Amino acid sequence: MPIPAKTAVRRSVVSLLTQDRELAGRVQAALVAQNLSADHVPFDARIHFPPFDFADALDSDCLLVDAHVPNADRVYATWKQRDWDDRPALLVLTHEAEAVPADAPAEIDGVVPTASTTLLRRLVETIIDNRRLNEEVAELARFAALGRTLAGVLHELKNPLNNILGALDRVKSLIPADEKLSRWNDILERNGTLLREALADLLDGFRFNLEPKPTPLHPLIDRAIAYAIAADVNHRGRIGIERRFHEKAPTVVGNAGQLLHVFLNILVNSRQAIGEVNGAIVVTSRWPEEGWVEVEILDNGPGISEDVLPHLFKDRRSTKRSGSGFGLSLVHDVVVKHGGRIEASNGPRGGACFRARFPAQSA
Ligand SMILES: Nc1ncnc2c1ncn2[C@@H]1O[C@H](COP(=O)(O)OP(=O)(O)OP(=O)(O)O)[C@@H](O)[C@H]1O
Ligand SMILES: [Mg+2]
Repeated sequence: MPIPAKTAVRRSVVSLLTQDRELAGRVQAALVAQNLSADHVPFDARIHFPPFDFADALDSDCLLVDAHVPNADRVYATWKQRDWDDRPALLVLTHEAEAVPADAPAEIDGVVPTASTTLLRRLVETIIDNRRLNEEVAELARFAALGRTLAGVLHELKNPLNNILGALDRVKSLIPADEKLSRWNDILERNGTLLREALADLLDGFRFNLEPKPTPLHPLIDRAIAYAIAADVNHRGRIGIERRFHEKAPTVVGNAGQLLHVFLNILVNSRQAIGEVNGAIVVTSRWPEEGWVEVEILDNGPGISEDVLPHLFKDRRSTKRSGSGFGLSLVHDVVVKHGGRIEASNGPRGGACFRARFPAQSA
């Protein structure tokens, strides 16, 4: 029973199906019974199930019509009126092999008998899952494109900033500074330098294939604290930061820019969770076992919601109005890329607690 060319099978869906052996077995058996080979497994992200918009469904590769749904006869009637150029495959799903309805069109490509509706439900779930996966992949691609654009923009900012700092140097050498002028010069210079460092860090983070280098962790955490909290006048006085750094300073082999993003993301989340009240964040570094360093960031916000906690690093979920839920999956990727692992929990007094562990050399 040939399937039209339009019904090219998405092998990714097949592999998705085959992850579930029981389901795959039943689908396979049903298809073999209908002389449809495994290469023609008619499952595609765009399979439509009734009830569906017929016009939209015609663009898909395959229609799977449950013979027992109330509007199946309408689907058949519309199907018969069509003057087909390149029609989608039509599969009829019956609960019994002999139950193909009399009004079904002659061009049925297959009958998929199922003993129960469970199979249909599982198929729909599989297809919906796959569609979600496709959407996520597309969104990730959009993020990647945004990242590339942003990296380009950051790069373009470097030159004017260097020019400004260079010109400031010239001004300082040409105009004898009185006390007032020196103060203003200092402010310009300090802030310009801070911006230049921030740009360099961000750019480092974007260059994912940099050679790993020994990177002392404590100064990096200090920079993240400075960017996330201390540099912002709205939070500076309100959120107390306690550093409990181990006296044996750890060094991690990796990419400073990316590692900075790990601490920055966690600290920004803490800051956002604390909100407008007075808060406290405790950052601890410790050596839990030989060759490993652990950084713990504990805040006194409301803690991570129970819905989000089990999915925190895997699925992108956000409870914030303008959040993407992207931050922690990036954090997770960077930690794992550095041979480490990360976990999150709610602390005994309710706030969120993040623990990231890295293989380390002692300084
Ligand atoms: N310190 C924290 N306290 C409470 N909840 C947290 C904390 N950190 C993370 N979360 C929860 O985890 C979710 C996911 O965090 P993540 O950083 O991945 O995304 P986001 O902060 O929502 O968005 P983005 O980072 O893209 O701005 C948050 O929306 C929040 O619900
Ligand atoms: Mg975040």
